[in-house]
Amino acid sequence: MATCRTCAASIKPFMSFGRMPIANGFLRPEQFKQEYFFELATAFCEACGTFQIVEQPDPEKMFHENYAFFTRTSAHMVTHFREYAEWVKAHYLSDVDPFVVEIGSNDGALLENFANAGIRHLGVEPSANVAAEARRHGVESLVSFFDAGAGERIRDQYGEADAILAANVMCHIPDLHGVAKGAELLLKPKGILVFEDPYLGAMIEKTSYDQIYDEHVFIFSLKSVQSIFGPYGFEVIDVLPQATHGGSMRYVLARRGARPVSPAVSQLASGEDAQGLGRAATYQDFRTRCEHSRDQLLDLLNRLKAEGKRVVGYGATSKSTTVMNYCGIGPQHIEFISDTTPIKQGKYTPGSHIPVKPYDEFKTHHPDYALLFAWNHKAEIMSKEAGFRSGGGKWIVFVPEVSIIEG
Ligand code: TMP
Ligand code: ZN
Repeated sequence: MATCRTCAASIKPFMSFGRMPIANGFLRPEQFKQEYFFELATAFCEACGTFQIVEQPDPEKMFHENYAFFTRTSAHMVTHFREYAEWVKAHYLSDVDPFVVEIGSNDGALLENFANAGIRHLGVEPSANVAAEARRHGVESLVSFFDAGAGERIRDQYGEADAILAANVMCHIPDLHGVAKGAELLLKPKGILVFEDPYLGAMIEKTSYDQIYDEHVFIFSLKSVQSIFGPYGFEVIDVLPQATHGGSMRYVLARRGARPVSPAVSQLASGEDAQGLGRAATYQDFRTRCEHSRDQLLDLLNRLKAEGKRVVGYGATSKSTTVMNYCGIGPQHIEFISDTTPIKQGKYTPGSHIPVKPYDEFKTHHPDYALLFAWNHKAEIMSKEAGFRSGGGKWIVFVPEVSIIEG
């Protein structure tokens, strides 16, 4: 019997997505033979309300000097992080020499907004290659995971922090007790811990099961965040829904009693009850919808193949690894996947072994159908690719349902 990663209660997986490789483990043909796989099974802990994957590969297998995800590949995300920084500056920084820390600062897209304003900051990022890119943007970066020891060392060297920020990172960290302890040690008495991650309510609503992959060990709800951080003296003082990554939630935490609590917190708690996020039956339904989505997508791709259509993928996202491996999609269905990230180009997708090619290949030789793996960037991509559609190209989407966007 497995145990909950956060409260140690017994948990039982409600479904398995099968054998999965490392989601960002793009590889060359000579590496196919040694490819690493694990079983991607999911569980919901009824004791603390935390949605989690049961088995996770070692963090060093995922976050290293060749990490393939760079935040700056999306113009919308760069804008989003500028706005995130402005909001923190406007509401939460002290007047005198504030200090901001980011956990998982990647290429510095968030912190550069503080760096440019002359605000003391430190990025804590375990993947050396993306941290080097952050430094090129003037962002001070420490190559490290964040835990209690890191929190203490940073406090001793730089002083207490006004804000600890994270975006699409907290859900990657299996030991949240270490993070909570580190935040407790590092923050000023009125300091805040803010993080945003894909939201469980949105994933259930949209059947966006591709949010589940090795790096996303948790998909949070308000209830789970309260259960995890409450014992360390933190309370959630505000929640702000975000459109990013297909539906995210920003949680603002402070030491209990240190700051007023927004009414948005109890409203979201009621919304989660109404949606049934605490009920096992909700996850059984989710499973049924995932299976239906898988069957529909595979049927569609098989039909297009039989009709001799050219189908390519758009965006070699980490999420797409779950979709392709769960649905059984391979090079027989998809000619290549177009992606703008240089480190992914010329390699093959994890497990499914579809070639990843530069964006030019898509642009100069439009296919009949483009499968939108980067569906969370739909608005940005649709406006960029208006010419594909007007030239007769069709989009295949699978969130919230498998469908074709024509004309
Ligand atoms: P994400 O869904 O994890 O943000 O990853 C998006 C991936 O899609 C990333 O590899 C970059 C790629 N991408 C494109 O190839 N073209 C685009 O226009 C955008 C926005 C992303
Ligand atoms: Zn639990």
